Amino acid sequence: MPQYYHITTMGCQMNKYDSNHIRQLLQNSGFLPADIPDNADLILINTCTVRAKAQQKAFSLLGRMVSLKKRRPDLILGITGCIAQQEGPDLIKRFPGLDLVLGTREIGRITEILETIKDDRKKVVATNIELKPISPVNYNGFFKGQVKSYISIMEGCNNFCSYCIVPYVRGREISCPPKEILKEAKNLISQGVKEITLLGQNVNSYSWGEKKEINFPMLLKTLSRLDGLLRIRFTTSHPKDLSDDLIHCFGELDNLCPHIHLPFQAGSNKVLKLMNRGYSRERYMELINRLREVKPDIAVTSDVMVGFPKETDEDFQMTLDLINKMEFDNLFSFKYSDRKGTLAEKMSGKIDKDEISFRLDVLQQVQKGITLKKNKTLEGKKVEILVEGDSKRGGQFTGRTGTNKIVNFNCNNNIIGQLVEVDIEYAFVNSLKGVLIGSDN
Ligand code: 5AD
Ligand code: SF4
Repeated sequence: MPQYYHITTMGCQMNKYDSNHIRQLLQNSGFLPADIPDNADLILINTCTVRAKAQQKAFSLLGRMVSLKKRRPDLILGITGCIAQQEGPDLIKRFPGLDLVLGTREIGRITEILETIKDDRKKVVATNIELKPISPVNYNGFFKGQVKSYISIMEGCNNFCSYCIVPYVRGREISCPPKEILKEAKNLISQGVKEITLLGQNVNSYSWGEKKEINFPMLLKTLSRLDGLLRIRFTTSHPKDLSDDLIHCFGELDNLCPHIHLPFQAGSNKVLKLMNRGYSRERYMELINRLREVKPDIAVTSDVMVGFPKETDEDFQMTLDLINKMEFDNLFSFKYSDRKGTLAEKMSGKIDKDEISFRLDVLQQVQKGITLKKNKTLEGKKVEILVEGDSKRGGQFTGRTGTNKIVNFNCNNNIIGQLVEVDIEYAFVNSLKGVLIGSDN
């Protein structure tokens, strides 16, 4: 009898990457994917704990899966990812239906651990954070039909920004061997992948070798030269590690997409200091200006937070000022959320909830105007896009520009995986609508 598994993935791209890793390991050992949790013998929830909201969402899903298990006691139920790493054995106490708690660096051991659970009907909690990052699995044909994919090149974070849980749940920074990264990239390309995004919590602090001979720009240059790789991206970069060499890569490497995601978090130097970010607003703006000098059409996106402890209205105005000056293509904005064990959790001067919501609304309105204005400049222009698949609305295809903007257009032929040119007819806040050049649609 075949065994079926189902994974729900929450949170960031690193979790998506990890879920694919688990899928390949399970399929290698004979499991088949189930379309819904009800049809699975093994249910995994890969969780995120970056903000309290993500954690609540995971717990409510876990609660529903525990009820499912009451009806089907043979089911194996597991939690992986950042909440598993953070909470460990406490999760089994809180959710007695759980069989498995698997930390972020333990996922490579999943099949071996499942054997123990099946043979002995024992519950397992595995949360060793000292393990090396996982090695690629290379399950044959797993990525066939995918236009784009990720490679995790480093894990963890040493920065300890005062609000952030990541260093606690993803461990210290550790880079992957270049040989393995290169092998994985070739494997993806051989399966038809055209665009690779290099992933890491601090992707640009990648380094390898006893004397750190290989740095991130060197790795990027090597990978960009691989035959058949149409596009390469990377995320997430930290402003304090953004070297001039890396900035120059945007001018030098043809297939490096003209887009950088560079979180700034706050526009006031007082708040940046309290956050332990390691740069000033002036330094951040200087970096963006340097990037735009080297690559004038580069798209810049960022993360920002409102309502950090002690953030006054004046501090918030500095954040708005930076947003107005830098004109990001897109901005991911969050309400500050207390995370257990972080320095910020213990800070005084917490901001009132309604005030935080008000600041977020104001900020998002400002950014909406900027994003729309920037997108509107593309109306009437020709852009190159990589076609990713059918758009959610029927009859249309969708792709992305190098600057990472979504473009929808009509086409009669299947052109998924091709780089094509599109005339932009209309720009919205979240996407662009265009006409394929050279088609009679
Ligand atoms: N509260 C709110 N937002 C947070 N982020 C990280 N930690 C917190 C927190 N405690 C945001 C940051 C980060 C993004 C991934 O999530 O902006 O860049
Ligand atoms: Fe968190 Fe800061 Fe590390 Fe990013 S750099 S993962 S925000 S501690």
